[in-house]
Amino acid sequence: MEDIKVLIDEETLHNKVQEIAEQIMKDYKGKELTFICILKGSMFFTADLAKMIENNIELEFIKASSYGENTVSSGNIRIDLDLKNDIAGKDVIVIEDIIDTGHTLEYLLGYLKSKKPKTLKLCVLLSKPERREVDINIEYLGFDIPNKFVVGYGLDYNEDYRNLPYIGYIE
Ligand code: IMP
Ligand code: MG
Repeated sequence: MEDIKVLIDEETLHNKVQEIAEQIMKDYKGKELTFICILKGSMFFTADLAKMIENNIELEFIKASSYGENTVSSGNIRIDLDLKNDIAGKDVIVIEDIIDTGHTLEYLLGYLKSKKPKTLKLCVLLSKPERREVDINIEYLGFDIPNKFVVGYGLDYNEDYRNLPYIGYIE
């Protein structure tokens, strides 16, 4: 196991998720929502956020992977697991763990838009602005972080560390 340093502790995460939940409830008063959890990294964030929201939420899952490379997104993206239900006419929020270059989300948002949701917004826990290659509009953002490789709270390094309750980085 590598040496993991804490970047964002549990309490700071919890407070930020609460803040985002309150903003979403304000923006979607009385509306039914569809959350699309991007697997696997967003599972803890999606679960915590959804539990703090009083609106009825339909949960959908999608999984994409970039082929070719490992920790760096190449822009060649394919869908490994697709939505189960139709999102046409729904108020959809896509929940993502981290945005790095932006290629994964650019691809996924394009794909989801083609399904004709009524509205489509993006909620991302972590962003590395230094690394961005495509411009993506993020309606709900947790934290801008420095260009470090982070793990925990769903994020992995070769499938390890997802269940750490905080966001850490590998030295
Ligand atoms: P993008 O297409 O470059 O924005 O890459 C986004 C994807 O790369 C995320 O959904 C993660 O799966 C992965 N990723 C990027 N940075 C990190 C990191 O620091 N830790 C873990 N996964 C990361
Ligand atoms: Mg991911």
